[in-house]
Amino acid sequence: MSQKPGWARRMAAWPRFLLGRGNDAGQLYDLRGAGAIEGAGDTPLVNMGYWAEVSPRGADALQKACYALFDLVADGAGLDAAEAHVLDAGCGFGTNACHIVERFGSAWVTGVNVSAVQLAIARDRAALAGVDGKVNFLLASVTDLPVATGSMDAVVSVEAAFHFDTREQFFAEAFRVLKPGGRLSMVDLVVPPAHRWWHAPALDLVCRSQAVPRANIYDLAGWMQRLRAAGFEVMEEESIVDRVFPAFRRWMLTRPPHVHLRYDLMYIVASLPYLVYPFDYVRVVARKPG
Ligand SMILES: C[S@@+](CC[C@H](N)C(=O)[O-])C[C@H]1O[C@@H](n2cnc3c(N)ncnc32)[C@H](O)[C@@H]1O
Repeated sequence: MSQKPGWARRMAAWPRFLLGRGNDAGQLYDLRGAGAIEGAGDTPLVNMGYWAEVSPRGADALQKACYALFDLVADGAGLDAAEAHVLDAGCGFGTNACHIVERFGSAWVTGVNVSAVQLAIARDRAALAGVDGKVNFLLASVTDLPVATGSMDAVVSVEAAFHFDTREQFFAEAFRVLKPGGRLSMVDLVVPPAHRWWHAPALDLVCRSQAVPRANIYDLAGWMQRLRAAGFEVMEEESIVDRVFPAFRRWMLTRPPHVHLRYDLMYIVASLPYLVYPFDYVRVVARKPG
């Protein structure tokens, strides 16, 4: 299985993203293949991590922070009960889906992703971890879920909803597939509108190169208002931006230069806004009434 498209295909595809002609998350993540943010061993990771108790120094720092983020979300989903059916929206390489089953033996997880390349890796990883009987992966958009109404005990999502076209459509689908009383536990990058003149080009680059629909650009208050409008009862809400961005940025800037050179030049350019744009980052636990 080829985990990453060849150099020539990647180079040919990046300009489309930088020019905004490939504003599609599935194409973006297929293009990046296993070359995610960083891998610890053979674990490709695609989130910025939760650094409350993790130091940004050390070879496995990002891996520890990513797992801390998974645990934060799983804790909010209330999965201690026997037999829970969980949907992981925007499941990346299936790392969180496998981790949930390893942590809560009673859980069954359906991971949903629009990247076929990531899902192929996810299936291999689940088989290697011996949890493939309890996780399944669907190539689909979480804005139009091929999942029965009222069938899930919990929906979790880790740093993915900013891509969903649109996030509101995902809230509606999450609400539909949850059982009454079921929980939505998620963390998400919040991309507020540009406030200063130099924010505007950075925002433009974020939307074009990172497949963020313009319809998802609003602040934390707008994010919460849309969640409530979908029918959810909010149980916990907080901004955790101070436990994500400062340490993640420090971690990025202190990587040895040769590590950065492993990435495509275009990917490095596309990532620059992460160092400067005034993002927010939300953690939410909400419940479908009933
Ligand atoms: C930043 S990555 C996070 C992955 C994973 N949750 C993690 O933390 O390791 C965003 C993920 O969302 C997926 N994604 C984006 N839009 C999607 C959609 N409409 N439906 C399903 N998955 C989507 C991407 O393919 C990617 O796997």
